[in-house]
Amino acid sequence: MEVKIAQNAGFCFGVKRAMQTAWDELENKTEDKIYSLGPLIHNKQAVDKYKEKGLVEHDDLDNIPSDSKLIIRSHGVAEKVYTDSKSRNMEIVDTTCPFVKKIHNIAKDYYEKGYKIIIVGNPTHPEIIGINGWCNNEAIIISSLEEIDNITFDPTELYHVVSQTTANLELFDKIVEKLKTKIDNLTVQNTICSATKERQLSAIDLAKEVDCMVVIGGKHSSNTQKLVNICKEIVPTFSIETKDELEKEAFAAFKVAGVTAGASTPDWIIDEVIEYLKEI
Ligand code: F3S
Repeated sequence: MEVKIAQNAGFCFGVKRAMQTAWDELENKTEDKIYSLGPLIHNKQAVDKYKEKGLVEHDDLDNIPSDSKLIIRSHGVAEKVYTDSKSRNMEIVDTTCPFVKKIHNIAKDYYEKGYKIIIVGNPTHPEIIGINGWCNNEAIIISSLEEIDNITFDPTELYHVVSQTTANLELFDKIVEKLKTKIDNLTVQNTICSATKERQLSAIDLAKEVDCMVVIGGKHSSNTQKLVNICKEIVPTFSIETKDELEKEAFAAFKVAGVTAGASTPDWIIDEVIEYLKEI
C-alpha cells in the first residue's frame, strides 16, 4: 500500500510544550506525586507513560491534597481553579496553551465590559468549561446550527462570539452567519488556533488525493474527531487510536492510504501506523 502523510499532523505546539513541561517536572520532582486536573492530553498511551513516572490525575480539585504540586493542562481551567488552588497553598505548573489563555482573556474582558459571551464549541469539553469559567459561567454555548433556533437573544444586549480552539472552521463560519441574522449587536473573534486550521486544511487536501484516510488520535480528542468527520465526507475513513485497531482485510479495495493525526497524537504512534500500512 502506498502511504501519504498529511503535511500537518500530530502534536501541535501547545501540546508539545505542555507535555515537555510536565515531563521535566516529573524528572526533577522531589515530592512523591505530582497531580493533574484530568488527563494531560486525550491520548491514553501517552498519558500512561506519565502515570508510571508519578503523575496522578483527578477530575476534581477537592480530591487533590492541599500543598501539593498541580499541573494545569493545555486545555486550561476556569478562574476559580486558580483561586481555589492558591487558597489551598498548591504550587501551580500552568501549561495552558497560549491560544486558550488568549480566549480566557477575551471572555473576561468582554464580560466585564457588559457583553454576553457566545462560545462556539462542545459544552462538555474541558476547554469550553474552562473558558466559561472566565465569564462567570454565563456563556451561551453553541455546538450546532439547529441550536440557534431555540435561543432567544435580547436585542438590548451586546454579544461577543469566540470559538473553541479546535472547532470546525466551516461550521464556525455558518454559525456566525446565522447569528448575524438574529443579533444586531454582534462582534466576532475567530479563535480557532492556527494548528487546528492547518491540520484541517491539510487533511482535506490529502483526502482528495487518496483512496482512504486513516485518522489517528484519541476517541475523546475533539480535534481528532473533527478530522475524522472532515475526511469522512471525502473518502472512506478509519478512526483509530493505535495500529492494533487496523485490520489488513479492510484495506483490500484501496491502493493509496492517507494518514493524519490529531494534535495530541505522539510521533511514535503515527510511525507505527505508517509502517503497518506500508507492509499491507
Ligand atoms: Fe494549543 Fe491549538 Fe494545540 S490551542 S494545544 S496549539 S490545538
